[in-house]
Amino acid sequence: MHIPVLYQEVIDYLKPSAGSRYIDATVGAGGHSLGLLSASAPDGIVLALDRDPMAIEFARRRLQEFKDRVILVNASYEQMAMVASRNGMSGVDGVLMDLGLSSGQLADNDRGFSFQEDGPLDMRFDTSRGSTAADLINAMPEDGIADILRRYGDVRDSRRYARAIVRERPIDSTLQLAELVMKESRVRGKIHPATRVFQALRIAVNDELETLKEGLVAALDVLKIGGRLAVISFHSLEDRIVKHFIREQSRDCVCPPEYPVCMCDARPIVRAVHRKVIRPSEAEVQNNPRSRSARMRVAEKIAEVVV
Ligand SMILES: C[S@@+](CC[C@H](N)C(=O)[O-])C[C@H]1O[C@@H](n2cnc3c(N)ncnc32)[C@H](O)[C@@H]1O
Repeated sequence: MHIPVLYQEVIDYLKPSAGSRYIDATVGAGGHSLGLLSASAPDGIVLALDRDPMAIEFARRRLQEFKDRVILVNASYEQMAMVASRNGMSGVDGVLMDLGLSSGQLADNDRGFSFQEDGPLDMRFDTSRGSTAADLINAMPEDGIADILRRYGDVRDSRRYARAIVRERPIDSTLQLAELVMKESRVRGKIHPATRVFQALRIAVNDELETLKEGLVAALDVLKIGGRLAVISFHSLEDRIVKHFIREQSRDCVCPPEYPVCMCDARPIVRAVHRKVIRPSEAEVQNNPRSRSARMRVAEKIAEVVV
């Protein structure tokens, strides 16, 4: 079972209470939603989304005791505003985005996220559409593969791996790719060299960084004034996007510094709720090692976006 990361911090910062309404944009195994629903009893409502239809089915079973206080929708979070409006859930008190993948997805060999056991090289969150990781690396030119490995995984030997992939393809299974990377790797460390390669491919397959940017904009759109957005990320590329987004939306003037007076009339849309990024306690990391790379940022909406 996936253990929700920064669980207490999410509750403390989103402050669920009776009658309030939330969007859990990444319901996963439903751990955070369960907390939001329990703390907003007897009538708080959670609209829970996930891009993975299997996660939605799992969460539906887990959260069934909350009956019509929970609305589950299989959708990607960049569609949040549309899904919220269709479900009468615009102007919500809080939005949670807990990025990445769940322990259940990682442990399921058929999903292709892990190279611990053999499985199809899939890596799609939504298994009903789009290209798999195998489709991608079996069709792309060498340069494109190297670019993905470098940009999304900061892989040092990206060109070397890309060349080997092109030479050895078709590559259809997780172990086939992991073994190829291991054979080509020139560094021996504690972390398997395929870890970053798998991370990079997963980000590319799901277009995770662009989707995150659109998801953040959608989240601001659905919040009421005073509502809060909490985002938990697990690697620096995601955290950087969240940090920049909050910083940009908190600025009051976006004129170039050489302008003598403000010409833009921009106003801050959010305020950062804390100064430093929120990280799990030592006790949490001990109890759940997967939480060690988690970073949470929270912003409060203070004005409507003017378009
Ligand atoms: C870390 S898990 C969430 C765990 C959850 N908070 C819990 O307590 O069980 C991340 C979830 O986000 C989902 N996900 C990834 N990208 C998504 C997207 N663009 N839109 C919606 N859900 C997404 C994944 O399918 C996965 O179930």
